[in-house]
Amino acid sequence: MDMWEDELPPPAAALRERAAGADGLLTTLTETVGAELLEAAPRIRAIANMAVGTDNIDLRAAAERGIPVGNTPDVLTDATADLAFALLLALARRLPEGQEQVRSGRWRTWEPAGTLGADVAGATLGIVGWGRIGKAMARRAEGFGMEVLHSSRSSGLPLEELLERADYVSLHVPLTPETRHLVDDAALARMKRSARLVNTARGGVVDQEALRRALTEGRIAGAALDVTDPEPLPAGDPLLEAPNLIVVPHLGSATVRTREKMAAMAVENLLAALAGRPMPYPVADG
Ligand code: DGY
Repeated sequence: MDMWEDELPPPAAALRERAAGADGLLTTLTETVGAELLEAAPRIRAIANMAVGTDNIDLRAAAERGIPVGNTPDVLTDATADLAFALLLALARRLPEGQEQVRSGRWRTWEPAGTLGADVAGATLGIVGWGRIGKAMARRAEGFGMEVLHSSRSSGLPLEELLERADYVSLHVPLTPETRHLVDDAALARMKRSARLVNTARGGVVDQEALRRALTEGRIAGAALDVTDPEPLPAGDPLLEAPNLIVVPHLGSATVRTREKMAAMAVENLLAALAGRPMPYPVADG
């Protein structure tokens, strides 16, 4: 077994070099596994991704070589929906600003109009993507007394209508060529000025420059991002200067129990395929 021990992910060249003689790969979403890498690693018989998202893996290139790809669905659904809802609440109630006021000593007294936020109960949540995590988000929202709309390829409202009606928009689609920059200038222009955007899916689903402009010009009320493109954003990235923006470091599945289960599933996938058995958690179209 060859394990990458550094805290930071392997640079592409190092990954290619280390994968060259490997029989299988256990990757996380920080490793890009493309056709070129697979070309350079002819022995690979299994790719086990420790994530539910597989946009870091060229599934077609793997399929062409008959390499099974596995992922870690289900076990991170609740943790990711919890984080999305936490971000929604933090945005609505301006928690980062409140904390900053207290820590900096700027908070001096309770005021009738101090740091007023937006209501969640009675507001409309638009969920984009109606997979496991989107549905788990809907259950949370219903518990908080929200009206829930959704839009997906096969059900719900047209995206345009959802964007126009929602007070909060939460993204739960995988990153694919079709969903890249799904939330662009035109989509943001359809949102209410009072609406807030939550992204726990993939950074590439949002056109970040368009989002920066919309926030800076006050065309939407706020955004909370668990995911960005790239991750992390480089220091000084203009998006980080945008007002009413919360950014956290891809924490969706970051609970102890969830990460333990994800690791176990990835190992099970890898060992099964290397032993010539079907992966217990194969990527549906991998
Ligand atoms: C995934 O599994 O795709 C998540 O983004 C990890 O947090």
